[in-house]
Amino acid sequence: MGNTTKKICVAGSLNVDLTLRLERFHQPGETVIAKSIHTYAGGKGGNQGVAVAKLGHPVMMVGMLGEDDNGRFYRDTLKKNGVDAECVGSAPNTPSGTAVIEVDDRGENRIAIIPGTNGLVNNAYMDSVMERMLTCDIFMLQYEIDLATDAYLAKILHDAGKQLILDPAPAAPAPDGLYANIDFITPNATELATLTGAHVDSEEEVVRAAHMLLNRGVGAVIAKLGPKGCIYVDKETVVPVAGFCVETVDTTAAGDSFNAGFAVALAEGMQIRDALRLANAVGALSTTGAGAQSSMPTRAQVDAILSRS
Ligand code: RIB
Repeated sequence: MGNTTKKICVAGSLNVDLTLRLERFHQPGETVIAKSIHTYAGGKGGNQGVAVAKLGHPVMMVGMLGEDDNGRFYRDTLKKNGVDAECVGSAPNTPSGTAVIEVDDRGENRIAIIPGTNGLVNNAYMDSVMERMLTCDIFMLQYEIDLATDAYLAKILHDAGKQLILDPAPAAPAPDGLYANIDFITPNATELATLTGAHVDSEEEVVRAAHMLLNRGVGAVIAKLGPKGCIYVDKETVVPVAGFCVETVDTTAAGDSFNAGFAVALAEGMQIRDALRLANAVGALSTTGAGAQSSMPTRAQVDAILSRS
């Protein structure tokens, strides 16, 4: 762990992932034989929380699970990874969130989500845990709970002087006022294109699209470009940072892992280029094994790849 006391809080989704391995993605109307099926803890919120914890940094999770087998499995996972789950509520009559994921032989994925209890995380729930949340310094949000609640929370946290990182995934138009309360937005290329309607095939196009988000009020844009690394854009600077070359098995949660690495680096007070290098390393290493959380790296693994390159 770094020598900081800054605490990270993740507010968002917790899904149990049902992951199918397939040789290739199939066509509508086509039946194929899958190679395997596995159950993993996932959800963009939970993935970000567990990735922070695996890096050895204190993290609090805010979300909702059902009182079902999946909910119990997930609580156990959070506990094993050392995530503070006191603000993860329980809902008796709704199933925990689930995701059905297909991963092909290149490690690419396709995901469909059934929100379940994630859909119950609302403003009133945030109010009920706000006092504890406000003991944290850096907040990580995504788009797998009600977007209006993301916006509600972001305003309170921003007004309280907290730092906010928004992963706009799955991509959706932002509710009014949300962007103005966000310090860092972290779309991947597909999300950046969807949010702006712009082409993002070259670095120049990515920077131009990022400026469209800056003009809507976010403090800075970090475009996540997979193996190519990432590009940081704020009103004054553009910082491209190269990615790491690894043997990819499964890209699920690579973006979540990147965000966790960035949040930890921010908590440790790193300069932006070093922070993004660390984030790239965490994202890359997370693709080297199957499943969302199982392959997320420890800090020692991240430091090893950083010192080699
Ligand atoms: O970002 C990956 C995650 O997206 C998966 O774990 C799945 O649950 C969906 O939320």
